[in-house]
Amino acid sequence: MAKLPPGPRSMLLTTIRVARTPTEALLRYRERYGDPFFLPMGNGPIVATAQPALIKEMFANRDATLYGSFGFESTRALVGDHTVLMMNGAEHKRERKLLTPPFHGDRMRAYGEVMIEATRAAFAGLGVGEELNALERTTRLSLEAIVRAVFGYSERAEITAAQDAVRATLRAAKPFLLFSPKTQVAPFGLGPWATFQKHSRALDELLYEQIKRTRADNEGREDILALLVRARYEDGGGMSDGNIRDELRTLLTAGHETTAVSLAWTLYALHRHPELLARARAEVDALDEDAGPQELARLPFVGAVIDETLRRYPIVDVVFRKLLRPTTFAGYELPAGVTLCPAIVLVHRDPSIYPDPLRFDPERFMGKKPRPHEYLPFGGGNRRCIGAAFSLYESRIAIATLLRDFEFELLDGELPAVRKNIVLAPKGGVRLRLRARR
Ligand code: HEM
Repeated sequence: MAKLPPGPRSMLLTTIRVARTPTEALLRYRERYGDPFFLPMGNGPIVATAQPALIKEMFANRDATLYGSFGFESTRALVGDHTVLMMNGAEHKRERKLLTPPFHGDRMRAYGEVMIEATRAAFAGLGVGEELNALERTTRLSLEAIVRAVFGYSERAEITAAQDAVRATLRAAKPFLLFSPKTQVAPFGLGPWATFQKHSRALDELLYEQIKRTRADNEGREDILALLVRARYEDGGGMSDGNIRDELRTLLTAGHETTAVSLAWTLYALHRHPELLARARAEVDALDEDAGPQELARLPFVGAVIDETLRRYPIVDVVFRKLLRPTTFAGYELPAGVTLCPAIVLVHRDPSIYPDPLRFDPERFMGKKPRPHEYLPFGGGNRRCIGAAFSLYESRIAIATLLRDFEFELLDGELPAVRKNIVLAPKGGVRLRLRARR
């Protein structure tokens, strides 16, 4: 049996092509080599597939000794060692059990009002006729939403201090520092690594202070930090301070850039299609003036617009599972160390699943639930995104609130998707102009 499926030979060229034009490169390689196909990448050999049946088989396999985390190694400096992102096997499973509850059901719905307030705060102070960068605003929005959900803050000064600490750390976390540990040096205490460490330490101080305060007084609090401090593993033990620190850093970073980008794409897609914008607005306008977050989050067409945005403009284009031991996959005998890659963006563009796949058409999702292995914005299996429900709830509320409060006009034409850290974002961030307040 062949060890690896066919694919390009040059590691350098493949790595450059996939980094520069990720979607086009994947489309071209699959067309040339078939599916699954092999990619000799700089950070290790990859076997990619866009076949739903193969992806289903992968995600259904819960054998903890088979798949490990990959690609997140580069984010170790940012999030630490003791986070779900880095864990494998039984440890990963045990950690997810503790981390998942705050992001579902009534716990999640309790953040609804905060999501409306965060939307209004991020878009406050705009004058009619003023231009804005949608991605900058939605980044403020989603960062405020996650900061408030995590710490339970309501004071503006506290919210701003935490937002600033996260933002400064992320800004200093240059991709070359994260991807190449050799650059993690600070000669004479200077340079980009020293700057990153300075901001990272300041963020840690804030996090450890909050953990200390929460351990001292956790009465009646329902925010994520309070829930993590109270949470217990099956053996009755709790999370250490260092462990909570790493998980908080994970949630604060993974929990806002992704949602911010998806909101910017949604605003872009809606304003490219005036008839869809009018339909979404009519749905919002039909609500009572005092409609709360639950009602906003239940609007079917607004929901379908967000679902279609995540299909047409996937924020995360690929996910990875590194083989911890050799296995047979699609008739190939793959050695340990190879990384399997469900290519989300290719599945979402498959015309046999989504006819005319480049057309933005929320009708695809009206009253219909896609099959899980044909719709993968949040990955799948035992590493599926923990914040998926939270992010969808926030997106529905934020878009409905913006439609209720403002009328914008789009200043950009066709925008390509460009790599921004691990996500694919609209180039330049979507420029809008405020046309009217409502
Ligand atoms: C539109 C918004 C978002 C998108 C598109 C997204 C996408 C993803 C994807 C594709 C993965 C990898 C899944 C896999 O490997 O199968 C992931 C993992 C993860 N996401 Fe999200 N995410 C979003 C928002 C959030 C939010 C709001 C949070 C938390 C507040 C969050 C926390 C996480 C965590 C902790 C993981 C790691 C799970 C694990 O390794 O077990 N994400 N996300």
